[in-house]
Amino acid sequence: MTSTLLTNIGELTTNDPEADDLLGLVEDAALVLEGSTVAWVGRAADAPPADEAVDLGGRAVLPGFVDSHSHLVFAGDRAAEFAARMAGESYAAGGIRTTVAATRAATDEQLTAHVARLVEEMRGQGTTTVEIKSGYGLSVHDEARSLAVARQFTEETTFLGAHVVPDGTTPEEYVDLVTGPMLDAAASYARWIDAFCERGAFDADQARAVLEAGAARGLRGRLHANQLGPGPGVRLAAELGLVAVDHCTYLDDADVDALRESGTIATLLPGVEFSTRQPYPDARRLLDAGVRVALASDCNPGSCFTSSLPLCIALAVREMGMTPAAAVHAATYVGARALDRDDVGALVPGRRADLTVLDAPTHVHLAYRPGVPLVRGVWQAGRPVKPPM
Ligand code: NIG
Ligand code: FE
Repeated sequence: MTSTLLTNIGELTTNDPEADDLLGLVEDAALVLEGSTVAWVGRAADAPPADEAVDLGGRAVLPGFVDSHSHLVFAGDRAAEFAARMAGESYAAGGIRTTVAATRAATDEQLTAHVARLVEEMRGQGTTTVEIKSGYGLSVHDEARSLAVARQFTEETTFLGAHVVPDGTTPEEYVDLVTGPMLDAAASYARWIDAFCERGAFDADQARAVLEAGAARGLRGRLHANQLGPGPGVRLAAELGLVAVDHCTYLDDADVDALRESGTIATLLPGVEFSTRQPYPDARRLLDAGVRVALASDCNPGSCFTSSLPLCIALAVREMGMTPAAAVHAATYVGARALDRDDVGALVPGRRADLTVLDAPTHVHLAYRPGVPLVRGVWQAGRPVKPPM
């Protein structure tokens, strides 16, 4: 097995949970990769020999981003809807149906090529693990094929048949379909099951029924909740002991207490607030209350069409009260925990060698230099998928 020494790293974010500081920072660092994993981490002066060496010129290195929430399987775009919002319209869940029509009309090859392009776009910005949801098919056939497409790119696939009730059916009929024949067709392609628990989508009883049916088939639950207004979704997620609940834009004190007590991660998606002109959630309030916070993109054609975790980090720092360190941790280590993964999200011996090289001396520059393409290099499972030089 070939070993590679990455040396002259100005600042290494290890996310070592044993470290005294949140990011487990090491200055003047080096890292040895062996095959697909990290074999050694420490000061460059102490590094062991390796088969080959790469000098990173004093740049910062951090774990590859873990994007725990995206909807990449779709066709068409909704730029006109975005423009209308920026002219004063408000975001509504119903826009999802526009994308459903376009997605149903696309071929498997078109959907696959589109996901490939977006996954590549993410990788170029430092994302090395991505979760991908279905949810723009909303028929037995189209949900199953959406997940089959997603499965070609990640193990972290999520069945989101309960995204919105499609035209031509009642909510009751549709929940029966999602928890019955659609789940039968989707289950073998999915690790997770999700529901959009929101006024205009699914209520708490319906979301619970969907997640319970999924659990009976071995799928782990996640929820979209409290995105467009206050509601029962976050408390339902806490009650069910879900690993993560996503959006969390409108939270009352009882929601925050429930998250702290259950240990459910609040995954915040600041690109959505950016793209819908809604108020940003207060990450500082959650962190101060002892709630774990992850950051993800929610890349989708409606509420947020960005694939950039660097942008999400900058927004979380500027608009949501996060420090740069907390935001980087949330987009790497906590993102991995939100997918119940402990093989990614940290650069310590034994973990997967997924890492990002910044064209900057520290992680702070991700927020300090917003909008600047700082991702200079990316290694995924020990392979340089974006060579830094
Ligand atoms: O996470 N909230 C539900 N689903 C997506 C938006 C989907 C769309 O508008 O197409 C989200 O924001
Ligand atoms: Fe989403």
